[in-house]
Amino acid sequence: MSIVQNPQSSEVAIALREVSFGWSADTLLLDRLSLTIPQGQLWMLLGRNGSGKSTLIRLLAGLLPVAAGTCYVAEPLGFVFQNPDHQLVMPSVGADIAFSLNGEALNYWQVRERVSAALQAVNLQGLERRPIYALSGGQKQRVAIAGAIARQCRVLLLDEPTALLDPESQQELLGYVRQLVNRQGMTALWVTHRLDELAQADGAIVLDHGKIIGQGTPQAMMPLIYQQRTLATHEDSGLLGSN
Ligand SMILES: Nc1ncnc2c1ncn2[C@@H]1O[C@H](COP(=O)(O)OP(=O)(O)OP(=O)(O)O)[C@@H](O)[C@H]1O
Ligand SMILES: [Mg+2]
Repeated sequence: MSIVQNPQSSEVAIALREVSFGWSADTLLLDRLSLTIPQGQLWMLLGRNGSGKSTLIRLLAGLLPVAAGTCYVAEPLGFVFQNPDHQLVMPSVGADIAFSLNGEALNYWQVRERVSAALQAVNLQGLERRPIYALSGGQKQRVAIAGAIARQCRVLLLDEPTALLDPESQQELLGYVRQLVNRQGMTALWVTHRLDELAQADGAIVLDHGKIIGQGTPQAMMPLIYQQRTLATHEDSGLLGSN
């Protein structure tokens, strides 16, 4: 079962101890995962297709139940999906961010101020009235992040947020998240397949078949990731069969 309590150190933003999860009662997908992500850092989560990255990040967001172990994530937390069209629900930019503040006891002016400051942080100031459909993919992702900023999230979980973006928007989005981490002390966990993004991270976690096979600095994790990719290529080409 999940025990959500603050670990000893206030410097920790995310802490898992022996966490397991299965889509069915008899098979575990995530198998006794333990990890610690310090506050105010940008970490990346990597691993082959189907290794359990999205499942893990959903579990951290509280969207899936923990079957065993303990899980702590500092709150409030924000979640950014791969496809922003699955996330932005209101017709205009300002309305969407204001909607994310629904649960907070704020008056009209406080909401306006939060929305405006959040848009400023992702360089979309003044776009409150812009219809969502008139935004580029990168701008939509920035609106999703602005929603988390407006809610004053301490942790931001991003599941392949640049997968649908061109290289320029990809680097721009990563730059904004890096800035949020550096300037506002936010903690971000970013799922990616893109090795060029790894260079911007403070740390990386590598998943394989639902187990953590490495966590540490991006430099230290790089050989492991290359090794995994070589293995995957050989499997795909039939060089490594299961029998
Ligand atoms: N709703 C679900 N019900 C049952 N099984 C699921 C469900 N969602 C995912 N799975 C399975 O869990 C495993 C891990 O999936 P997950 O989406 O976490 O992988 P991933 O590492 O995010 O992969 P990718 O890199 O392709 O996004 C896969 O075998 C997948 O089929
Ligand atoms: Mg995924």
